[in-house]
Amino acid sequence: MHLRRATADDALTLARLYDLVWSRETGTLGEKLAAERRADELTVGKWLERDTYFIVEVEGCIRAAIGCEAKHGTLHLVHLVTHPQHRRRGFARALMEKAELYAKKIGVNKLWFDTAPGLDAAQNLYQSLGYTRCGRLRRHYWGTDVVLYEKLL
Ligand SMILES: CC(C)(COP(=O)(O)OP(=O)(O)OC[C@H]1O[C@@H](n2cnc3c(N)ncnc32)[C@H](O)[C@@H]1OP(=O)(O)O)[C@@H](O)C(=O)NCCC(=O)NCCS
Repeated sequence: MHLRRATADDALTLARLYDLVWSRETGTLGEKLAAERRADELTVGKWLERDTYFIVEVEGCIRAAIGCEAKHGTLHLVHLVTHPQHRRRGFARALMEKAELYAKKIGVNKLWFDTAPGLDAAQNLYQSLGYTRCGRLRRHYWGTDVVLYEKLL
């Protein structure tokens, strides 16, 4: 496993990974939210320009990714996915730990996540890493509730 920062050249491969993962979560997220997360290459390219993304590669293929949006002295973690055929190998955990190191490096004092109620694997992961469930926004994204997690450093 190789963990590195993503570059503009990764946009297409990342877009394919997001498409694959979120096309399977329509039932959990609803059509609109799932479609929004299935970003195309151009959109992912903009994310990569604006924010810092880390990826896990195995034998040269991207198998997991996370985005880190630094704003207001916090790090908002976004777009965390692992390829469906490469799960439970510690890739997401490694990315979350990398994001925490990155937060410390850039001097922010808090990490947070918003997620959807049915994404149970993600919520287990956050709790196992010391994140606290800190709120719920009702019918927030296209009618889907949002569950909030935070971790103070
Ligand atoms: C959530 C997700 C990123 C986890 O990726 P992963 O690489 O398989 O996760 P890891 O192997 O690092 O697992 C770390 C921990 O997360 C939890 N976890 C992961 N998958 C789980 C599952 N299917 N059921 C229950 N807990 C799970 C466990 O606590 C696990 O630790 P353990 O394996 O020691 O028990 C992946 O399931 C995914 O892409 N899901 C769909 C997209 C998504 O929900 N993204 C989060 C958006 S907010």
